[in-house]
Amino acid sequence: MTTFTREDHSGTGPGEFTPDGCSVEMYVRLPGNGETEIIAAAAPPGATLLELGAGAGRMTRPLLARGFRVTAVDESAAMLAKIEGAPTVRAAIEDLELEERFEVVTLASFLVNTADTATRAGLLRACARHVTDDGLVLIQREPDGRHETRTPGVEWSRDGMTISVISIEPVAEGVSKTCIGYEFEEARWTQTFYSENLSTPAFEAALTDAGLTVESYLTEDRSWARARLSDSSRTAV
Ligand SMILES: C[S@@+](CC[C@H](N)C(=O)[O-])C[C@H]1O[C@@H](n2cnc3c(N)ncnc32)[C@H](O)[C@@H]1O
Repeated sequence: MTTFTREDHSGTGPGEFTPDGCSVEMYVRLPGNGETEIIAAAAPPGATLLELGAGAGRMTRPLLARGFRVTAVDESAAMLAKIEGAPTVRAAIEDLELEERFEVVTLASFLVNTADTATRAGLLRACARHVTDDGLVLIQREPDGRHETRTPGVEWSRDGMTISVISIEPVAEGVSKTCIGYEFEEARWTQTFYSENLSTPAFEAALTDAGLTVESYLTEDRSWARARLSDSSRTAV
């Protein structure tokens, strides 16, 4: 079976890009889209929070402002350089081995939908390795059917910018190659990425394999899941 890794992703536009094709300057400008509110409603106030794939701190900033004690992880030094007020760790999430355990671990931005099964397993194991025995893992995933509802030409605008689906094509069973455009007044970026459509049972099975159990979904479309360590994965059993 063909595997598409994040190194197959790409981006166009001004400035630096991450290995997975994200523009640093675009993420500096991208406004929040309700993610912080979802996290804050689920997490205990003031919790220690490990943010995996933090990028330029789009969620880090409002989470810090709400009193969470955030540690931001990303493999891109250029992204992390944009973050102020939180400790940052430059690492591939799959390889992360911090001594500290966190009351909340977040894996947002649909990273779990990577079309690389081994990386997905690594991301989820990193969540399990870094959460406290009674802590929460909050994961943002593509909701069921998202690939079918995305068609070229679809666009949505918010806060002075427009996001559009430039192209989307199936490239393997359940895997799409998508090109998204981000248009701001002064500049335009694109990102082309591969993602795997994970049904709810497939998503939950991937978590089970990593020692996590989905406890509930935080949004009606099931795009945010709240998980905990499975009983057998707790250290204090
Ligand atoms: C789509 S951006 C989202 C950033 C941030 N979560 C946000 O919503 O603004 C994804 C970020 O995850 C990072 N990333 C992707 N895969 C990674 C991995 N396996 N290990 C470390 N960082 C990763 C990229 O470098 C990038 O900064």
